[in-house]
Amino acid sequence: MAVNLETVFKSVQELANSKQVPEKYIHPEGPVNTSPPLLDVPEVDLSLIISPTSPARDEELNKLQSGLKSCGCFQVINHGIEDSFLDKMHEISKQFFALPTEEKLKYARTVDADAIEGYGNDSVLSEKQTLDWTDRLYLNVFPEDIRKLQFWPQKPECFREVFEEYLKKLKLLSESLLKAIATSLNVEENCFLDQCGECRTMVARFNFYPPCPRPDVVLGVKPHADGSAITILLQDKEVEGLQVLKDDQWFRVPVVPYGFLINVGDQVEIMSNGIFKSPLHRVVTNAQRERNTLAVFIMPDADVEIGPVEKLINEERPRVYKNVKNYVELFFQYYQKGRRPIEAAMI
Ligand code: OGA
Ligand code: NI
Repeated sequence: MAVNLETVFKSVQELANSKQVPEKYIHPEGPVNTSPPLLDVPEVDLSLIISPTSPARDEELNKLQSGLKSCGCFQVINHGIEDSFLDKMHEISKQFFALPTEEKLKYARTVDADAIEGYGNDSVLSEKQTLDWTDRLYLNVFPEDIRKLQFWPQKPECFREVFEEYLKKLKLLSESLLKAIATSLNVEENCFLDQCGECRTMVARFNFYPPCPRPDVVLGVKPHADGSAITILLQDKEVEGLQVLKDDQWFRVPVVPYGFLINVGDQVEIMSNGIFKSPLHRVVTNAQRERNTLAVFIMPDADVEIGPVEKLINEERPRVYKNVKNYVELFFQYYQKGRRPIEAAMI
């Protein structure tokens, strides 16, 4: 039987407008601390790392390493992408979510259980699941042959053009970042990048968090670690919301306008033999303001086996992870069972 999405689908944005919070969005664990202490995330100047003659290069690499060791993330500044262009990228994403539901539903993901690509709200993977207070647009972007253009918005009109340019820039940025991350560990600069392979995958997730009447009991995104190698997050310039777990405590991630927040995902945790840990993070909601972010996940080619870099395995640090292939699939299997997917890769 054909399902008419328009009658079934209710975006979080529509819930927000009607000031309703259905039971399914209420977290059973009790109150959410929306303003814990601020996390000390180092700001790394990428221009100083890229230039081989820069006297400050080592210092920046040390900052990067200490950020990744202490909380699994760092902010990158002076990355070469212009502020005005990032404003444009934000703008088209906002404009997309501001379109009437009917228009956005042209790009709706299908109702199949495992369909994630396209526009929708939290994917329901199990009956008991508490839902995230967010609407999303999820797009596979690289390699180009995995694109499903039927999900790519045609409104605002410049969406595809601007987004395409953004992706080209992020592809280059991801290479510099993977090199810098390896260099910070004194291993060959291409060793993480090469493991990701020629055909590494990039997936983009536009996250839209409408204001929520009950930030004390509802989460924008429940706690998770990313299954990527690294994630490049363009945060909202004005509204905070992301929190990272460090030493069993939640911390707020500061907003650095025009910077990117870089976090390692499970696959760099594996490649670095656990020296860098993929941080658990969550998003809290906010009663007054909406929040827009864009996450781009950089992932190894699904056909390539990845594993800890040899030079990072030694007597003091024996191998912690097996070699794995197509981690993202493993990730979703474990995620559905409510387990940390990284366990699947442990020896
Ligand atoms: C994600 C994520 C954080 C944010 O998309 O995986 O963690 O602030 N997003 O939107
Ligand atoms: Ni995440």
